[in-house]
Amino acid sequence: MSPPDQMPETGPSQFVIAIDGPAASGKSSTSQWVAQRLGIRHVDSGALYRAATAAALRVEPDADRWTPEGVLAAASSIQLVPTDRTFAALLDGQDCDEELRSTAVTSQVSRVARMQPVREWVNARVREAAREHAVVVDGRDIGTAVFPDAALKIFLVADPWERAKRRLVQRLERLPSDGEVAEETERLVQRDAKDSQQTVQAADAVLIDSTYLTQAEQVDRIESLARAVSRNTDGSSEVDGGGWKRYF
Ligand code: CDP
Repeated sequence: MSPPDQMPETGPSQFVIAIDGPAASGKSSTSQWVAQRLGIRHVDSGALYRAATAAALRVEPDADRWTPEGVLAAASSIQLVPTDRTFAALLDGQDCDEELRSTAVTSQVSRVARMQPVREWVNARVREAAREHAVVVDGRDIGTAVFPDAALKIFLVADPWERAKRRLVQRLERLPSDGEVAEETERLVQRDAKDSQQTVQAADAVLIDSTYLTQAEQVDRIESLARAVSRNTDGSSEVDGGGWKRYF
């Protein structure tokens, strides 16, 4: 078994783990952790939608005036660059993570995500990243639209109240009040509704409900599944003429 910090060579037969699910279901943090355990990279597709939204806001603060062409033009200021274990979406060469997570961006991102040319632009960036590296990719449609042949597909869900609470604990770094959780739950449910078209569970995805799981338990499950899939596909797969490697 390769040491965890060894980056597998992927070549043409890339190894992709797709983790999809609704807002704040813990996809990004879980994906990062799983990628770290396996010694591969994480790609956060949502960060690209957020970066496109932030870029559009910089050019035109009135979102009602946005067009797909305008958003795509603004998105030309974005670069997806490999960092130690993940890929950062930079705006004009700068890491703007706080801006990407801001309320202004979060409240408009679903509008941008419904623009088909923007989806194609994001999908192309994500596929480019996966061409070079074995990856864990998180999003809404990774196991269906972006990598329908992913080696492992997970659909991560949790009760909306629990998701809202986790997101607030992460943001506020304290326990939120019930009133705060109720407001955040409402916002998440509204965003889920706006994202419903693009949030698709693949028929062959493994459904994990993390409502009563700790994050470590959820990461353990996905890591075991990934290692099992990797062993099962060792040299015997039809994929890429049997050139499919054992990765971890
Ligand atoms: O972390 P959270 O689940 O709140 O959101 P995110 O993964 O950062 O994604 C932000 C937004 O991008 C979502 O609300 C979707 O509108 C959009 N998105 C998408 O449409 N398709 C993806 N594959 C990933 C994100």
